[in-house]
Amino acid sequence: MPARRPLVAANWKLNGNRDSNARLVDELLSGLDNSLLVEVLVCPPFVYLSELAARLEGTVVMLGAQDVCAEAEGAFTGEISAAMLREVGARWAILGHSERRALYAEGDDLVARKFAAAQLGGLTPILCVGETLQERESGRTLEVVGRQLEAVLDHCGVAALQNAVVAYEPVWAIGTGKTATPDEAQEVHAAIRRMVAARDDRIGGGLRILYGGSVKGANAGSLFSMPDIDGGLIGGASLKAAEFLDICCAAAGQ
Ligand code: 13P
Repeated sequence: MPARRPLVAANWKLNGNRDSNARLVDELLSGLDNSLLVEVLVCPPFVYLSELAARLEGTVVMLGAQDVCAEAEGAFTGEISAAMLREVGARWAILGHSERRALYAEGDDLVARKFAAAQLGGLTPILCVGETLQERESGRTLEVVGRQLEAVLDHCGVAALQNAVVAYEPVWAIGTGKTATPDEAQEVHAAIRRMVAARDDRIGGGLRILYGGSVKGANAGSLFSMPDIDGGLIGGASLKAAEFLDICCAAAGQ
């Protein structure tokens, strides 16, 4: 099994402003130990990418976007392309977040096209998958997560997963304070890895799979200790520097 470097990604969602962003990254930078064996990434709203790129240049903290357009250019009012995001400093893009799927009707096909567009434009996709409470309670978790993942595998091919990250975010755990137990999360992470490994063993083994959904400093250690959980995608707790730093330390096993 190849070693998978832990990754902790902050999804700030629709939060922050110039002043609070600057404060937050400065606190992160002063608290992050450069020798920490973990990759750290922040995903602010689009409009702040440029100035945060300048602030983060030469530091250990990387920058990502929260979404990307499936098209490269043209008549798509309000959209932002992968090349534009890359030009202003983003290197990663969250795709298929459950809030985009549920509130903006993004289906598996669109998410798969966004995945391809992100890679074509030089961004590393963080593909979000996850089931609703109703789907979990009706025993359909692996079917739903499998369908979301297979859509990308079918559209882009398994080789595309070499340069991507998957985030398992059970919808019922997002922003609710309810976290999947380490065993519940591990079961789904292992299934995701098996699905990819069924197409290519090496790529499945090397794929980083993050857990997201009410991760905090207090529960991060037990989640990240599971064999197939390679880090986290953090919402609410990423807006508080001390809490986010605790999560980064937990991912680094410290
Ligand atoms: P919370 O950590 O606030 O539950 O959000 C998780 C999430 O949606 C990250 O993308």
